[in-house]
Amino acid sequence: MVHTVKPDEIIARCKAIAELSEQPGCTTRTFLSPPMREVHRILRVRMESLGMSVSVDSAGNLRGFYEGIRPNASRLLIGSHLDTVPCAGAFDGILGVVLGIGVVESLNGRRLPFAIEIAGFSEEEGVRFGVPFIGSRALVGSADGALLEKRDARGVSMAQAIRDFGLDPSRMSEAILKEPVLGYLEFHIEQGPVLDQLGLPLGVVEAIVGQTQARVSFRGRANHAGTTPMHLRHDAVAAVAEWILAVEREARAKPGLVATVGQVETLPGASNVIAGEARASLDVRHASDAQRTVGVDRILSSAKDIAEQRGLKFECSATQEQQTVACDPNLVVAMEKAVERAGFPVQRMTSGAGHDAMILAQKVPVAMLFLRSPGGISHHPDECVLSEDVAAALQTGLHFLEQFEQLNA
Ligand code: HGY
Ligand code: MN
Ligand code: MN
Repeated sequence: MVHTVKPDEIIARCKAIAELSEQPGCTTRTFLSPPMREVHRILRVRMESLGMSVSVDSAGNLRGFYEGIRPNASRLLIGSHLDTVPCAGAFDGILGVVLGIGVVESLNGRRLPFAIEIAGFSEEEGVRFGVPFIGSRALVGSADGALLEKRDARGVSMAQAIRDFGLDPSRMSEAILKEPVLGYLEFHIEQGPVLDQLGLPLGVVEAIVGQTQARVSFRGRANHAGTTPMHLRHDAVAAVAEWILAVEREARAKPGLVATVGQVETLPGASNVIAGEARASLDVRHASDAQRTVGVDRILSSAKDIAEQRGLKFECSATQEQQTVACDPNLVVAMEKAVERAGFPVQRMTSGAGHDAMILAQKVPVAMLFLRSPGGISHHPDECVLSEDVAAALQTGLHFLEQFEQLNA
C-alpha cells in the first residue's frame, strides 16, 4: 500500500483546525469549549466521506468507525487528543487524529480483516479541570463520579460542561471499550529535541515516562508593603520563589529528572501588599517511578524547610500520580518493522511527554510513532512538522496495518 494523502494536505488540515480557538490570536482549545464543535464537524464530514460512521460519546470523544470486511471484527484504535494547552502549536494531539484519518483515506475504500476506530479524545492536557486524560479515561472506564464533580475556574462542573455540550454524563459507561481491540496506535510529535538532533524523521516509542502533578500553597501573612520591616515579614511570594529555585536545583542534580513549576498565583495580588498566600503547580517526571518518587519527596521536604524557616504554612495536594507505561513489546517490534519497510532508520525512544496511550495501555496493547519536532519545540506556536516526516509516518502507518492484515487474514 502507498499512502495517497499528500503530506502537505495533512499539515494544512492541522493548521486549519488550529484556527479554531477560544482565545483570539493563538490556539487554545480546552475540554468541550465552543470551538470543539467545529473541530468535530470538520472531522465528521471527512470521516463520513470515507464511509465511516461517526459518533460523539458522553466524554465528548469523537469516534469514527471504519468497518472491516466482516461485521463485528476486532478493531484497531488510532487516535490522539483534540484539545490543546493555552497558546499551543498546531500539531500536538490533532496530528494523531488527522494522520489516523489519512491512513484510512489511503485505503481508498479497501476493507481489512479488522475494523479501524479513530478516536479524537476530548481532553488530554488537563487545562480546564486540572485533571488530564478525561477522554481516554472514559474508554477504560475510569471517568468516574468524582471526576465529573471537578469544577473549572468558573465553578462549572465537568458534568455540567458535558451537558452544556449537549451530551449526557449519566451515559459515560457507554464510552467504555467493549468490543475486542487489537491495539491502540497513536501518532504524535516528539515534542522534544532528540529526533531533530539525530536528524531522524521518526521515533518508535518504547515507554512513556510517569508523572506526578500537584498543587502547593505557601501561606504567610499579608501586610502593608510600606510599613512592615523586612525582618517581621512572612512573605509567601519570597517563600515560593526560594522553593522554585530549590525545585530547579533538585532536578538539575538528578539525571533524567525534570521538574516544572508552570503556574504561580499570588494572593491578594496587589503591588503594595505583602502576599499572604502563594499557590503553585508542580510537575515532576522521570522514566523510573522510584527515582521520580525520590525526587518528589526531596522537592516537597525542601518546601517544608523553607516554610518553617520563614514562619509560613505549607500544603500540598497531589492531582495526578501516573506510573511509567511501557508500550506493548510486540507492537514495538511491529512498528520497527513498519518503519524499516517504509525505508527509514529505526530509533527507539522514551516519551518525556504524557499521552492518551498511557491510559489506553490499562486495557489494550499500545504503540506510538513519533514525528520529529524541528527545533525540539512544543506547547508553543512555533511547534511544527516537516512534510517529508508526515509522508514517512503515513507510509509507516500503512505498513503497520499490513502486519495486522497478515495476522488477521
Ligand atoms: O504534559 C504532557 O506531557 C502532555 O502534553 N499532556
Ligand atoms: Mn501536550
Ligand atoms: Mn499531546
